[in-house]
Amino acid sequence: MTESNLAIVILAAGKGTRMQSSLPKVLHKVAGLPMLGHVVRTAESLSPQKIIIVAAPDQVETFRPLTGTHEIAVQSQQLGTGHAVRCTENALKNFSGDILVLYGDVPLIRANVLQEFIAAKHKANTPLAVMGFRTLHAYGFGRLVTDGDKLLEIIEQKDLPAEHANSNGEENCNSGIMCISSSQLWPWLQKLQTNNAQGEYYLTDIAKIACHEDKNPIAYFVPGILTQGVNDRFDLSKVEVQYQKQRSYDFMMNAVTLLSPTTVTFSYDTQIAPDVIIGANVVFGPGVVIESGAEILPFSHLEGCTVRSGARIGPFARIRPGATIGQNARIGNFVEIKNAQFGDGAKANHLSYIGDATVGADANIGAGTITCNYDGIKKSRTEIGTGAFIGSNSALVAPVSIGEGAMVAAGSVITKDVESGALGLARATQKNIAHWAKEFFSKGKI
Ligand code: UD1
Ligand code: CA
Repeated sequence: MTESNLAIVILAAGKGTRMQSSLPKVLHKVAGLPMLGHVVRTAESLSPQKIIIVAAPDQVETFRPLTGTHEIAVQSQQLGTGHAVRCTENALKNFSGDILVLYGDVPLIRANVLQEFIAAKHKANTPLAVMGFRTLHAYGFGRLVTDGDKLLEIIEQKDLPAEHANSNGEENCNSGIMCISSSQLWPWLQKLQTNNAQGEYYLTDIAKIACHEDKNPIAYFVPGILTQGVNDRFDLSKVEVQYQKQRSYDFMMNAVTLLSPTTVTFSYDTQIAPDVIIGANVVFGPGVVIESGAEILPFSHLEGCTVRSGARIGPFARIRPGATIGQNARIGNFVEIKNAQFGDGAKANHLSYIGDATVGADANIGAGTITCNYDGIKKSRTEIGTGAFIGSNSALVAPVSIGEGAMVAAGSVITKDVESGALGLARATQKNIAHWAKEFFSKGKI
């Protein structure tokens, strides 16, 4: 859906004291992407006219990689959420329409839920809609005081009368997400005061103002898990778990088999085609693409790689950035592949390191093969031809190439190219000494 007269403000300037971190709170990651990145992506998917991120002065540069070309409004002092939104007034002075306020520390909110929320505001024909949720654990949240769908006011935790401070039963809470008509927002923000427990300009106070002006603001309730905010690391873990649960559900609905969904970790950008089977305890770092019909066996770790259709990886394999595993290839236990093109139908079934290499189709890499890609100063490449056979426990000292259909004898240290069809043999010649062992053992134990 294209919402032409929509602008989105993302609040992210808060200090995040409860994270006890040198990193700004919204840069803590969920599934490998900083929370702010999740919110920016969701905002972008609504195709608004503008996205403005509110940041503290020292955060601007660290936010930039996540905010792209969107404008960053600087809030020089953190005087509260109302003040934060006011910092975007200049950037939005020519904008007329709905202003959707999102929080950088509420990363799980979904685009379709936001669309329904905005639609509900239009349906109610009101300049203010607030997204709420109901919970038994209301402590810490602003409370929505409602009369049916009608929103009367929002009271922050610290401003609750003592007798209401500890919740009893389910309460209506503020998610922080709001949609406000631009025509009303700026005048309302002018009216905010700091006569509250925290001495801040609360954005939430506009609810009461709107109500007094008979603007009929509404509360719109969604499942609390969608608006889970992150204030500390425990919250961060709850959000991570929920994100992973949602991703695995989405994959399963898209024909991916997960044999043990709760044990698999996805990255925000993991791509898995239909008819892929993923075993237990698989970890996907950023940048992984798995094509259809591939199988990832338990305890494999993949990052920055492509696995082509029909390939089988693991168990206990590590596929690192820059690796492409060809169609129907086999990568077995304790094999590490880095920055390498591993050909169609090629096999490395056991205990191997293949780095900075090209492995031809149908090549067979014996157990214990190591590409010696690093001499302590520079990295060099190993080329292995189509159908080549590398005997077990070979060291291929790069730069080196093994020709098509060539063979390397087990236990070789290969320092010179092996031409097509040849045998490379580079190991000490074996000598057998007759009777030696028999005599040795016959001396018996002392
Ligand atoms: C806020 C809401 C509360 C709601 C809760 C939901 C207010 C006054 N309270 O409380 O009703 O239940 O979120 O999670 O709005 N920020 C700025 N500049 C500031 C202050 C905050 O940009 O000066 C940003 C923060 O980075 C954060 C968001 O605004 O992304 C919320 O701030 P936070 O301090 O976490 O508010 P809460 O106390 O959680
Ligand atoms: Ca918060």
